[in-house]
Amino acid sequence: IKPKFYIKDLKDNVGEEVSLKGWLYNKRSSGKIKFLILRDGTGYVQCVVFKGNVSEEVFDAADKLTQESSFEVTGKVKEEPRSIGGYELDVTDLKIISLAQEYPITPKEHGIEFLIDNRHLWVRSKRQVAILKVRARVVKAIRDFFDSHGFTLFDPPIITPNACEGTSTLFEMDYFDLGKAYLTQSGQLYEESGALALGKVYSFGPTFRAEKSKTRRHLTEFWMVEPEMAFYDLDDDMDLAEEFIEYVVQTVLNDCKEELNILERDTSKLENIKRPFPRISYTEAVEILKKKGVDFQWGNDFGGADETLIGEEFDRPVMIHRYPTEVKAFYMKRDPENEKVVLAVDVIAPEGYGEIIGGSQREDNLDLLLQRIKDHGLPQSYFEWYLDLRRFGSVPHSGFGLGLERTVSWICGLEHLREAIPFPRMIYRNTP
Ligand code: 4AD
Ligand code: MG
Repeated sequence: IKPKFYIKDLKDNVGEEVSLKGWLYNKRSSGKIKFLILRDGTGYVQCVVFKGNVSEEVFDAADKLTQESSFEVTGKVKEEPRSIGGYELDVTDLKIISLAQEYPITPKEHGIEFLIDNRHLWVRSKRQVAILKVRARVVKAIRDFFDSHGFTLFDPPIITPNACEGTSTLFEMDYFDLGKAYLTQSGQLYEESGALALGKVYSFGPTFRAEKSKTRRHLTEFWMVEPEMAFYDLDDDMDLAEEFIEYVVQTVLNDCKEELNILERDTSKLENIKRPFPRISYTEAVEILKKKGVDFQWGNDFGGADETLIGEEFDRPVMIHRYPTEVKAFYMKRDPENEKVVLAVDVIAPEGYGEIIGGSQREDNLDLLLQRIKDHGLPQSYFEWYLDLRRFGSVPHSGFGLGLERTVSWICGLEHLREAIPFPRMIYRNTP
């Protein structure tokens, strides 16, 4: 029973009779004619039911169709530039598959809470379909980039005994007789082991943080891609990050024109996203904030508002490197030229989208790493395996993590991360 034709392929069927299956997106009547907008996930097409052309039964069926009813429709394809999608169907037959009850999400405006409560239905709307298609394209672009640049996929575990990004955002569980275990915050530590085995590796999957902050940039479950490379220093890491971001943005711009148009995205802003990206030190970024009148103390971490202010200075992502040691993770390598800072980089997206990448060169010296684990109050026993990577053929190495939903939000021009993932998880929401 699978469909033989889909709306996106109608351009190949002009003049032919085809049958399509899908759902009623919208309906308009004018006397003897009914205009049905069918959606099938690949696009939208106007189906014209003219009383004189069909049986009474078919015309009645068209009359009965309610919003989101499923149906099969047969008709001749014709070009119609004024219609949605550019084609129209002259209907000869129509069968109702299932009549929908009164659909709660009409084209009228709804509050965001109502929409998220009905996320399982909201995903059918034109805007959400466009966003989710962009997301899927971004995911493919990410995989294509690393697969074609000599990286091997290396999947880290989701259940882990140790913290990677601080202990304050861990989701905890009881793990049989072994005590506490956690949902992974980042696969990085495991990727480091992969890099020392395979050279260049990446992971791409869901990561979890018990974020207590209710911001538009935080989810408790989000997807992250994490490349890790042996024999890369911080500059090499930044070179890779900018090439990668340029590739993802330019690919989506090229392949998702229709979706970006539906989202009313100003694509001229995305066309700018070309290498080289500006690179400034943390200290220089602090100067920018001070010039803008922010009372900012060297040594503090940037907040969301600070990132927005810094990001606004540039028309492409800005790479901020060399952060104060105190505000960054234990595994980051100290700058040999200035031990107050670590060889970290954050990439801040323009237009107020904030940090999309966090990365660094890793501490490859066993004694310094041991000291950092102690300084951070982390239990050394859990990190013995990780310390082995410094005991057995340690090399300079680097990597970064890019947040998928933040990247999709930026590319689509969304206000909040919750629209960038099919079913968002946030501190106050774990349904539907
Ligand atoms: O900067 P973060 O915490 O870096 C790491 O996890 C490193 N271990 C990555 C690495 O070097 N392999 O997180 C990386 C990115 C952020 O820049 C952001 O885009 C995203 O992950 N991110 C979140 N996205 C949505 N919701 C959250 N709560 C996020 N926390 C981080
Ligand atoms: Mg970060």
